[in-house]
Amino acid sequence: MGLSVVILAAGQGTRMRSALPKVLHQLADKSLLEHVIESAKELGADDIHVVYGHGGDAVPDALCHCDVDWIKQEQQLGTGHAVAQAVPHIPAERQVLVLYGDVPLTSVETLKNLIELGQQSGFGLLTISLEDSSGYGRIVRDETAAVKRIVEHKDATESERQIKEVNTGILAVSRENLARWLEQLDNNNSQGEYYLTDIIAMAVADEIKINTASPANEHEVLGVNNKRQLAELERAYQLAAANKLMDAGVGLRDPARLDIRGNVSCGRDVSVDINVIFEGQVDIGDNVNVGPNCMIINSRIDAGTNIMANTVIEDSVIGKNCSVGPFARIRPETELADASRVGNFVEIKKAKIGAGSKVNHLSYVGDSIVGKDVNIGAGAITCNYDGANKHLTEIGDGVFVGSDTQLVAPVKIGAGATIGAGSTITKDVEAGSLTLSRPKQMTKSGWKRPQKKQD
Ligand code: UD1
Ligand code: CA
Repeated sequence: MGLSVVILAAGQGTRMRSALPKVLHQLADKSLLEHVIESAKELGADDIHVVYGHGGDAVPDALCHCDVDWIKQEQQLGTGHAVAQAVPHIPAERQVLVLYGDVPLTSVETLKNLIELGQQSGFGLLTISLEDSSGYGRIVRDETAAVKRIVEHKDATESERQIKEVNTGILAVSRENLARWLEQLDNNNSQGEYYLTDIIAMAVADEIKINTASPANEHEVLGVNNKRQLAELERAYQLAAANKLMDAGVGLRDPARLDIRGNVSCGRDVSVDINVIFEGQVDIGDNVNVGPNCMIINSRIDAGTNIMANTVIEDSVIGKNCSVGPFARIRPETELADASRVGNFVEIKKAKIGAGSKVNHLSYVGDSIVGKDVNIGAGAITCNYDGANKHLTEIGDGVFVGSDTQLVAPVKIGAGATIGAGSTITKDVEAGSLTLSRPKQMTKSGWKRPQKKQD
């Protein structure tokens, strides 16, 4: 039997105190709803139906890149009503899994287990025992411990409210049964809503056993209702991601001080200091060191490279055995070849730096192709922008660029050339030459400085 997933995401989320619909709030740089959609995809769902409503088309517009079926629930009349909107869109002969757009961290293993239990008995229900179960629907079991029904907090008696086992809302049933039960729902309850949870008693009346499963971790079933809960789940997510890296052999100085907002792959013996942020797709080779306070975005760092403190690298490739930072900024489309060095307060943008070359101090190199074994002195800059267009600077192998030089692009420096410190280079420089552009030094002996006038 194929699998259809229904994700409920129509609620407002008043307690977020935000103009943004709740399910669009971000956890690890991805919306809550996208986390749920990705889990559904990872499960191998044949089709995914997202029930949205509050905030108009903001939700489908923001997530138009997600390949799902969007179903509008005009009025939020309850969870049962929400699922009923999706049922006509679900093909026959399907197992249906109900998920929630504001419950982002349910693991695929937990869901697989639930679906299997659902297939065995005809009804799989994810429950959890909580120390403080207030607010949740309680799981009412009979003397044989079989689930009889769910009672919502607001409809529960004092003794039912003592029950610690609660409904997570996540369940797996066949489309056929689901459709039949939903038709029988009414809204005769304290909230005047169509409760999805009422189908449990209907299943029991049909002599279907409710098989329950529980997640390995509580955060898997926690929903986000306010900014504190969002931050709490972000931490849970980050800690799980850090643990996964450590299990794969990565050394983390402090797993509580790492943030992964995307995917990271690491080789052997990688070590990461504190307050590091990885964003997008980051691929790190063997024996790489990442110093404290670094941000690495959509980049590849090859084996043996040392990224020192406070370095930012974006959309770039760093070769083997390089040294970058501290305080370096590597901007998009940069390629540092093997064994090159970029030091403190250096900005590199859209440039190729050849093997063994050094840009060690206070430089800007942009729109440039730099050869092998080049030395770029302190404070040298490429003047790549004329106010309207960007131009290329080409520097041949073995060039020495003296400190505080300006290379006004477009310009080419031939291989092996030497540029004297403090030069402003506006014309191409021939290979193997020495080029200087600065006034000759002059001296006046015994020079008296002007004196301040007396009143
Ligand atoms: C629901 C369950 C409760 C469970 C709890 C777990 C019901 C009746 N109760 O209660 O047993 O313990 O979740 O958190 O199902 N939604 C829609 N359309 C609607 C109504 C809700 O899309 O018309 C969405 C909401 O956006 C939300 C989710 O469904 O994401 C749950 O709805 P909510 O009203 O918060 O249910 P609870 O009262 O928390
Ligand atoms: Ca809720």
